[in-house]
Amino acid sequence: MNNNFPKDFLWGGAIAANQAEGAAFEDGKGLSISDMMTAGSINKPRMFTLSLKEDTYYPAHTAIDFYHRYKEDIAMFAEMGFKIFRLSIAWSRIFPNGDDTEPNEAGLKFYENVFKELRKYDIEPLVTLSHFDIPMAIMNKYNGFHNRKTIDLFVRYAETVMNRYKDLVKYWLTFNEINVGVLPTGNLVLGIKPEQDGEVFDSPNNPDNPQVRFQALHNMFVASAKTVVLGHSINPNFLIGNMIAHFTMYPLTCKPEDILLTKEKDLMFNKFCGDVQAKGFYPFYALDYFDKNGIQIEFGPEDEEILKAGTVDMYTFSYYMSFCVSGDSGVEMTLGNLLGGAKNPYLKASEWGWQVDPEGLAYTLYDLYDRYQLPLMIVENGLGAVDNFNEDGEIVDDYRIEYLIDHIQSMNRALNQGVNLIGYTMWGPIDIISGGTGEMKKRYGFIYVDRDNEGNGTLNRIKKKSFEWYKKVIKSNGENL
Ligand code: BG6
Repeated sequence: MNNNFPKDFLWGGAIAANQAEGAAFEDGKGLSISDMMTAGSINKPRMFTLSLKEDTYYPAHTAIDFYHRYKEDIAMFAEMGFKIFRLSIAWSRIFPNGDDTEPNEAGLKFYENVFKELRKYDIEPLVTLSHFDIPMAIMNKYNGFHNRKTIDLFVRYAETVMNRYKDLVKYWLTFNEINVGVLPTGNLVLGIKPEQDGEVFDSPNNPDNPQVRFQALHNMFVASAKTVVLGHSINPNFLIGNMIAHFTMYPLTCKPEDILLTKEKDLMFNKFCGDVQAKGFYPFYALDYFDKNGIQIEFGPEDEEILKAGTVDMYTFSYYMSFCVSGDSGVEMTLGNLLGGAKNPYLKASEWGWQVDPEGLAYTLYDLYDRYQLPLMIVENGLGAVDNFNEDGEIVDDYRIEYLIDHIQSMNRALNQGVNLIGYTMWGPIDIISGGTGEMKKRYGFIYVDRDNEGNGTLNRIKKKSFEWYKKVIKSNGENL
């Protein structure tokens, strides 16, 4: 197939503050919910602790030390030819207590330096305002987004950084994977305070309350929409997007019940939040879901208008894998990114059980572009794998290259059909700590970071084979895979 990538296609990579920066206690930063998460593994869930425990390893506290090494890292991204780099701002670096009267200048200065460094190489920053990173003080004082006061605190934070960086940053995302809030495991990312310490994503100790969770999600929608309106008033050239974790799903069989069930799940998990943020109102199936589950969302007097006024300029999403849906119990299951499902017999899975499905990316792009008709960006995609050095001291990560080639070809196919895909920031161009497990050994990068699961290592950066490969891809604008 011909190369269909437009000339100005935004090639790059993506990280998040809490998985990369470290320096958790430096320059006035306050604690964030991500600072309270321990390390886990595929078999051992990460734990969330309400206070920091002695003799416990919290990977976010040092992460990969991007805070001190960003110049070296950005130089390597520039060497690969990045056009765009996605990163998030740690809210608690700017407002350590969430409701401080003045922002923390040291925090503001840090991101200003980072954005200037990116600009030096003509790399566009793509900034996520909140990547699973709500200040602990907001959880403690306000129960996160369950309290409407948090809407104002978020908007003030957004106003502070959008004003400060209005000439340095053009691309913004409000909340990372906001639709995690639809899942019963999504309480923490909404800042809802658990009763006691427990598992990060699924805590039997802290039972889910859908009434509280969906109200918090509503308040997050309002905060996001207000931020879009505000951002446009600060700089009309801003492009502001939402960010959805896309759980691509297929019916396990052509049995009508499987097909219908897949449709219903797809609407609620994949489309609900995007519909609110891109269309500006609650879709019928969500209202029906609330009705059937006795959930009553309290709207503020102006919320309906705010949601309408604050629709996003672009739609962005993460895509790693797909799974199947079945009405039958007893079918074989697979793990996944935050959500798993029935195993697809045609797909292989990664070492962490995520099913690799490049075609599913084109399928998803058609689906989303058809529905929203907005510019699309894939802001996370990649393969988490264990990397080993060979005898020559190199990491020959052909498995990663193969994964990415297949997904880029799938993007090309969708572009060929007329999908307006404007950018691709693969996840973790430099190894960072895993969001799901807190491990270091689940690596996505073109750049290896010498650090292990227990926090040992020099933190030195080493290029993998895929480094030169991605450089070639960007240079040829997706032609030379
Ligand atoms: C996404 C998150 O869901 O998946 C990232 O936005 C996360 O923060 C990524 O790192 C990959 O998941 P994991 O668990 O492999 O790090």
